[in-house]
Amino acid sequence: MGASPLLHSKNLMPGGYGWGMINPSRATTTDMAETSEFLRVADLTLSGLDSPSVHLWICRDKTTGHIFATTGYESSEDGGHALIRSVAVDPGLRGSGIGLELAHFAMERALEAGAKRAWLFSRRSGPFWQKVGFTTADTKDLAEALVSTHQVQLFTETGQLGREVAWTRQL
Ligand SMILES: CC(C)(COP(=O)(O)OP(=O)(O)OC[C@H]1O[C@@H](n2cnc3c(N)ncnc32)[C@H](O)[C@@H]1OP(=O)(O)O)[C@@H](O)C(=O)NCCC(=O)NCCS
Repeated sequence: MGASPLLHSKNLMPGGYGWGMINPSRATTTDMAETSEFLRVADLTLSGLDSPSVHLWICRDKTTGHIFATTGYESSEDGGHALIRSVAVDPGLRGSGIGLELAHFAMERALEAGAKRAWLFSRRSGPFWQKVGFTTADTKDLAEALVSTHQVQLFTETGQLGREVAWTRQL
């Protein structure tokens, strides 16, 4: 079996995976209110944040203790697909490579957990996701692969699915 394209591409990134700007820790129940507020300000989906299928990490500023970045994914029922979500950086810290690290971190965790393919919704940040190997996909294919996820269920119920842009890559 060949190496994962994700592992391969990491080696091509400057410094490889783990550039050291971030050290995410798993979000716990006590982190949830602040995490939710951080994601609300970043205009990201809040549905199912406390669900066991949603895996969330946060980065806290060592001095202030405030959350400055988040990342995560939501698994499909069979674990083979991962919906990358909650990737966000404090507006004052954007543009310095933290987002790329967060994206790689979430993909790496999903790969370790057995996911073979990553998906996500993004209307505004397509060029960012292209930098980490995503290409556009059919929202119907995403919804089929990740039918049980909170984000797909919410977007289906609200009709937002048809207005979304889907992205995917192999892990
Ligand atoms: C998207 C986001 C996480 C990027 O974080 P960041 O720390 O600014 O990203 P980086 O500094 O690692 O950017 C890496 C590259 O992507 C580009 N990029 C970042 N965000 C971009 C965007 N929204 N659109 C186009 N390009 C973008 C950067 O310019 C940079 O390009 P360069 O290497 O040619 O200079 C951040 O803008 C954010 O929190 N947005 C709000 C939440 C969101 O939309 N999240 C994504 C959906 S889950």
